[in-house]
Amino acid sequence: MEPKIDIQICLGSSCFSRGNKKLVKTIDQYLGDHNLRHLVHFHGAHCFGKCDIGPSLKIDGKHYTLLTEEELMVVLNDLFGKRSSGL
Ligand code: FES
Repeated sequence: MEPKIDIQICLGSSCFSRGNKKLVKTIDQYLGDHNLRHLVHFHGAHCFGKCDIGPSLKIDGKHYTLLTEEELMVVLNDLFGKRSSGL
């Protein structure tokens, strides 16, 4: 069994007001719509110390900042598209 993909979203107040409030919903809906919840450990995290370039999230330890919802969708499609094709 493959290890779960770890998605941490910063729940600090700066990131939350900069867009993570929406990105939480976007990720949650994406995982539900694509039946991916069993592959992912999706959880909130404390401030990553990058508040000035938030909203901030990490996927398998890789830091993403200043993501819009559209950019996040590209990241998620890339991540799960690659997995499902076995690359
Ligand atoms: S509040 Fe998100 S990095 Fe600080």
